[in-house]
Amino acid sequence: MLPILIRMNILTVLLFAIVSFAYGQDRKISSYINPGCSYCPPDKTLVYTKAIGSDNTIHQIWDFTGGLPTIIFVIGTVNSSLHITWDGTNPEKFLMSDEPQYSFAAAIDKLYEYDDVEDVGHIDPSVPQKAYSLRHMYWARNASKMTETEAMVAVRGHFQDRAGLLEMKLDLLPFNDYAVQLPHLIHTANSTLVDVSVVNVTSSRAYNASRFALHLLLVSTDPAGDTMRYSMRRSLDDEHTPGVFEIVEIKTPESSRNSDGGFIQFRPVAYTQQERSVASSTNARISNFNKTLIPARSTLDKFYSYKYDPHDLLVQDIFISFGETGDGYYKQHNYTAWSFTIGYGEPPIESFSLFVIVIISIGLGVPVLLALSGVTYVVVKKYRARNAPTRFTDDD
Ligand SMILES: *[C@@H]1O[C@H](CO)[C@@H](O)[C@H](O)[C@H]1NC(C)=O
Ligand SMILES: *[C@@H]1O[C@H](CO)[C@@H](O)[C@H](O)[C@H]1NC(C)=O
Ligand SMILES: *[C@@H]1O[C@H](CO)[C@@H](O)[C@H](O)[C@H]1NC(C)=O
Ligand SMILES: *[C@@H]1O[C@H](CO)[C@@H](O)[C@H](O)[C@H]1NC(C)=O
Ligand SMILES: *[C@@H]1O[C@H](CO)[C@@H](O)[C@H](O)[C@H]1NC(C)=O
Ligand SMILES: *[C@@H]1O[C@H](CO)[C@@H](O)[C@H](O)[C@H]1NC(C)=O
Repeated sequence: MLPILIRMNILTVLLFAIVSFAYGQDRKISSYINPGCSYCPPDKTLVYTKAIGSDNTIHQIWDFTGGLPTIIFVIGTVNSSLHITWDGTNPEKFLMSDEPQYSFAAAIDKLYEYDDVEDVGHIDPSVPQKAYSLRHMYWARNASKMTETEAMVAVRGHFQDRAGLLEMKLDLLPFNDYAVQLPHLIHTANSTLVDVSVVNVTSSRAYNASRFALHLLLVSTDPAGDTMRYSMRRSLDDEHTPGVFEIVEIKTPESSRNSDGGFIQFRPVAYTQQERSVASSTNARISNFNKTLIPARSTLDKFYSYKYDPHDLLVQDIFISFGETGDGYYKQHNYTAWSFTIGYGEPPIESFSLFVIVIISIGLGVPVLLALSGVTYVVVKKYRARNAPTRFTDDD
């Protein structure tokens, strides 16, 4: 039995190696900061990444020049290219070399502060709340990495008229793996990891139970009358995100129908300290979708109005709010960090790790071993019993 178990595990290791190798060279990436901008100062940040695959190319734009942090995905043919023209230090036009096949985007347009008087841990239309537009946010670039194996940028957003920061990190790692940091989301060549932190933001004096929520805009080139699809899945185990079994997915209509649209994937968890752990985790809760419009003069507007009538696009918003009953509100830590992935195609599904497979094999193997030994014992006993008289006569 044991040798079979070991062989099974070696086979699994091989299978994993083959699978990860197959995914390992999924897309060839190249990335640029402010491509084509002659006068952009170092604190302007627009990242363009191109990920060339075997049947299409994914173009991504990560924009912080227009205040609202914006992530745009455009899928084009393998040989397609995207050219950006600039008006001084702001992007003006986004020109695709050929017809885009599909596009979707997400932007954070507002930070909401709400007075959670009932201490429920999430935003509700009935509680006092204030929206802070991010349009005039000033984003300083903190770090960046533009290589053939990674495209990463970290930025710090300063508010115009209040203390505190919004920190964001976007990371494209073009292979299948779990993120290094909790909640260990899965990244692929088709997706980007996004971290958002609300750091040391001063609460409004009018509220004594302040919490924050992010207001997200979701856009896709699906019909305006359609809707984004929300789903909550339970993972097989909580090995990668201790204590959290749920996985939330938002799919665009095209993604939900044909698996070739856009998705957002996250665990309903956020962290209240820089050191992410089970102890510092809190709830991240998503609201229902609501129809809305692309903000005028935003990068989304510049991008989509060139090719599409903005009224034909599907545009919806959601709130992601953080906290849980009895946690002492935002002021307890003055820090909340949340992560999600945004990508093209089918959202990745976590697989059992080798460790779990070994545990399961042992868990299944031991009872089978016991059952087999029991059967052997009974058979041997019966055999002996049947042969006993003969032996006895022989011995006699
Ligand atoms: C893409 O460009 C390469 C080289 O320019 C060419 O060999 C190839 O046929 C093109 N592929 C498509 C799908 O147009
Ligand atoms: C990425 O998208 C392509 C289709 O464009 C698909 O063939 C591939 O399996 C996807 N990769 C992952 C890791 O989902
Ligand atoms: C936030 O405030 C804490 C305590 O005052 C300080 O230690 C920390 O450095 C601040 N964080 C940032 C990013 O400024
Ligand atoms: C959070 O900031 C508030 C001021 O906005 C301050 O009173 C409070 O002590 C801070 N909490 C921590 C844990 O630093
Ligand atoms: C906040 O203030 C309201 C009255 O203004 C009071 O009823 C409530 O108990 C206070 N909450 C906390 C957590 O102090
Ligand atoms: C949805 O939008 C309508 C109209 O703008 C607004 O009255 C309503 O409060 C919104 N609902 C949510 C949950 O934000």
